[in-house]
Amino acid sequence: MVNICCIGAGYVGGPSCAVIAYQCHDINVTIVDLNQARIDAWNSDNLPIYEPGLDEIVFARRGKNLFFSTNVDQAIIDADLIFVSVNTPTKKTGMGAGMAADLAYIETATRRIAQVATTSKIVIEKSTVPCRTAQSMRTILEANSSKDIRFDILSNPEFLAEGTAISDLTKPDRVLIGCLQTPEGFAAQQKLVDVYTRWIPKEKVITMNLWSSELSKLAANALLAQRISSINALSAICEATGADVDEVAYACGTDSRIGPKFLKASVGFGGSCFQKDILNLVYLSEQLFLPEVAAYWKSVVTMNEYQKMRFTHRIVRTLFNTVTNKKIALLGFAFKKDTGDTRESAAITLSSYLIQEHANIAIYDPKVSAKQIKMDLTEPGVGTNEADVNKHVTVCESAYEACAGAAAIVICTEWDEFKMGQTDYQKIFDSMQKPAFIFDGRLILDAPKLREIGFRVETIGKSI
Ligand code: NAD
Ligand code: UDX
Repeated sequence: MVNICCIGAGYVGGPSCAVIAYQCHDINVTIVDLNQARIDAWNSDNLPIYEPGLDEIVFARRGKNLFFSTNVDQAIIDADLIFVSVNTPTKKTGMGAGMAADLAYIETATRRIAQVATTSKIVIEKSTVPCRTAQSMRTILEANSSKDIRFDILSNPEFLAEGTAISDLTKPDRVLIGCLQTPEGFAAQQKLVDVYTRWIPKEKVITMNLWSSELSKLAANALLAQRISSINALSAICEATGADVDEVAYACGTDSRIGPKFLKASVGFGGSCFQKDILNLVYLSEQLFLPEVAAYWKSVVTMNEYQKMRFTHRIVRTLFNTVTNKKIALLGFAFKKDTGDTRESAAITLSSYLIQEHANIAIYDPKVSAKQIKMDLTEPGVGTNEADVNKHVTVCESAYEACAGAAAIVICTEWDEFKMGQTDYQKIFDSMQKPAFIFDGRLILDAPKLREIGFRVETIGKSI
């Protein structure tokens, strides 16, 4: 029986290791975290993360070969393979503040492994980290190894996207495993390959050196985000010229060299990864004295900020240049559909801009709690404080409640329930102030049909 421990029971550690337990009943998987509330939630009927298909997988294996615990030391002692899946947020203070990844959690977890391990371990870097972080982990681990205990280190970055985590983990495009190019490194790599190939075709498990694997993760996120910033930059040209961004994306995406995915214009990308990982790459480039490279990647984030600001300006301009005391319904607060995660959500920036314009915003999201929304809007750096939020924000239980009496609706997240057919827009129109405006920041609505009802519609990437 192989024992796997995962340090970090978050969006990555929880689902990715639950899937291992689900696919390999003869592997014992223990997912540990210092956060007692999070572990209690993993052990309850109400899991701490909303992810389609996750409940079924956890409920099927929990207590059999899948365990959630705060006993980090025991799980390390028992494990053969240890995934390090802790958070690596952008540093808020000190050197590299606002850009570099904060590696304190990685180092704490690595030191804990070095301190309590009594047998040899394969330590797997699952978190997204700057290139060559494995070298620091290795140095800490090797300083604590002995004749009887050795540590091998692998890089196995995670490519799951939230909202589709379970299908991404069950049928990934690829799994990446990097190792030191030594006989011991290859042997450790093979052990992890043997786990993944239990349910993933061999040809999809790619092996390479440690540094390529680490950099590939940052590179993949940077390339994906770059596509979104590219189409969003084009959306501004579309709005000014009468071109339609969906048509442009379709025309470009049918070129097999470009491909159709990740070309959906939007109010701006969010999520815990894209901005953080690009800034990480920018910082790395600066540290390597490559200022042109740093500036190139930085522009992807700059364009994203511009898109959020541009969309807000369009809202204010269209509403006769003032939103003071106007009720504006914000539909969706999560950074994308099918997740309750709000980290770096464009809705946070939009809300903050609108509050600064003295609008009264009514927010509805099917999976985000009022507590979370208020926490996000009072975070330092967002631009709004508790008094602003108490005065200008109401969190609603339904789209209908949010839109009743509103002057405008802003679609921030592409939840299916906001689509035509699933929401009764005639009913909403009847309950709104006139003229009734809709700003579609996600290209999910049928503008001609809404206009037939009587709405004034403004869509990202379209001039009409
Ligand atoms: P998260 O914040 O949801 O979870 C991390 C968890 O690690 C937290 O619960 C925290 O309490 C725990 N932790 C921190 N230090 C610990 C320690 N020393 N011992 C035990 N537990 C500890 O983060 P996440 O979204 O799961 O991301 C984890 C990593 O995976 C990050 O590097 C992220 O960039 C990367 N990643 C995230 C995604 C995603 O979609 N969220 C996708 C791919 C990669
Ligand atoms: C991303 C990567 O896709 C994933 O591989 C990595 O492991 C973690 O980061 P995630 O952030 O969960 O995943 O979601 P993703 O689907 O990539 O969406 C990120 C943001 O981009 C969302 O706000 C989404 O709405 C936006 N987006 C995505 C667009 O605006 N247009 C698109 O065409 C695609």
